[in-house]
Amino acid sequence: LATSPVDLSAIQPGQAIKTTFRSQPLFVRQLTPKEIAEADKVDASTLRDPQTLEERTVDGKKQWLVTMGVCTHLGCVPLGAGEGENRGEYGGYFCPCHGSSYDTAARIRKGPAPKNLEVPKFSFTSDTAILVG
Ligand code: FES
Repeated sequence: LATSPVDLSAIQPGQAIKTTFRSQPLFVRQLTPKEIAEADKVDASTLRDPQTLEERTVDGKKQWLVTMGVCTHLGCVPLGAGEGENRGEYGGYFCPCHGSSYDTAARIRKGPAPKNLEVPKFSFTSDTAILVG
């Protein structure tokens, strides 16, 4: 299966872009220190799909949140990447189809979606580039 390179150099802290991976939407976001702190202060064991930000990011680079842009409820594309406007009440992504709110680690926090946004396999090829897949 194909891999996709993504250039991170133009993505500012607080910004998320929407690109594609294997014909599906992919979100790549640089978290701000505040967004990282918000994700870290949550006790992951209390979550519907318990995962820490560390478990969802690469060691030493946890500001880079890479997820599929596919709601785990019925597959709509959540808002918050590219559009940049409605990120929902947990500050991550918001799916307008049936109101699922994801937090700054793209973990499901409210609404019908059963799982966190999926983190695809990816690795860093330099400080400012990743290869997804
Ligand atoms: Fe996202 Fe239903 S598809 S909430």
